[in-house]
Amino acid sequence: MQIRIYKNYEALSEATANTMLQTIQLKPNAVICLASGHTPLLPCKLFVQKRKEQNVDISQTTFLGLDEWVGVPPENEGSCHFFLNNTVFNPLGLNKNQFHVFDSISKNLEHECEKMDAAISSKAGIDLMIVGIGLNGHIGFNEPGVSFKNYSHVIKLDEITVTVGQKYFSSQTKVLKGITIGLQHLMEAKKVILIANGEKKAAIIKKTIEEKVTEKIPSTIMQIHKNGLIMLDADAASLLPQNYLHETE
Ligand code: PGA
Repeated sequence: MQIRIYKNYEALSEATANTMLQTIQLKPNAVICLASGHTPLLPCKLFVQKRKEQNVDISQTTFLGLDEWVGVPPENEGSCHFFLNNTVFNPLGLNKNQFHVFDSISKNLEHECEKMDAAISSKAGIDLMIVGIGLNGHIGFNEPGVSFKNYSHVIKLDEITVTVGQKYFSSQTKVLKGITIGLQHLMEAKKVILIANGEKKAAIIKKTIEEKVTEKIPSTIMQIHKNGLIMLDADAASLLPQNYLHETE
């Protein structure tokens, strides 16, 4: 696991966007899995902007949505699908067959999981995952206690996720379950980048890096990924010991 620390959110976002572009330049038919949320917002916007400026061909690239709130439709601005549509899929002008997201209002969520797993295996796996981290150490909706061996699954949301999650919605929205790509997919992905910014993430970042690997803190899985990278702004890195800080860019 590598750690890179950037001076601020803008620099972190710029570096994330550049890595996404490089991945596609090296492998035009890459499969890229994207988280939604506040952290990936600027990285995704910069990716779309730089893709246009540099005229990078994305016609063979596939994008996956990491997770979704069960029961929240894509028209709801708090949904992950809404975020990805608005920030990435529509601005890139993707064809429908270039992206896969969970339909969380489907009556058959198991089938949604099977479809996502099949999409991933039909493309021979995920090349790059860009994920955030919850205050409880979740990645996607892989909540504390989840098995590292899970592929796509439906899960009861942790209380912290239910409470913090209200920040995405314009009015009180009942969310109890999530549907998510699993940590076994993450382990099998060729490269995973966990991004975090802001002081509020500093404590969970310290645990992610320093605690023993445990399913109680799903983000500790980053320590055992063969090509895992944690990219932080200075605030999210502020509780790490000095020896990490020489990596500051
Ligand atoms: P955030 O969410 O980027 O909005 O902080 C992170 C997460 O819960 O995964």
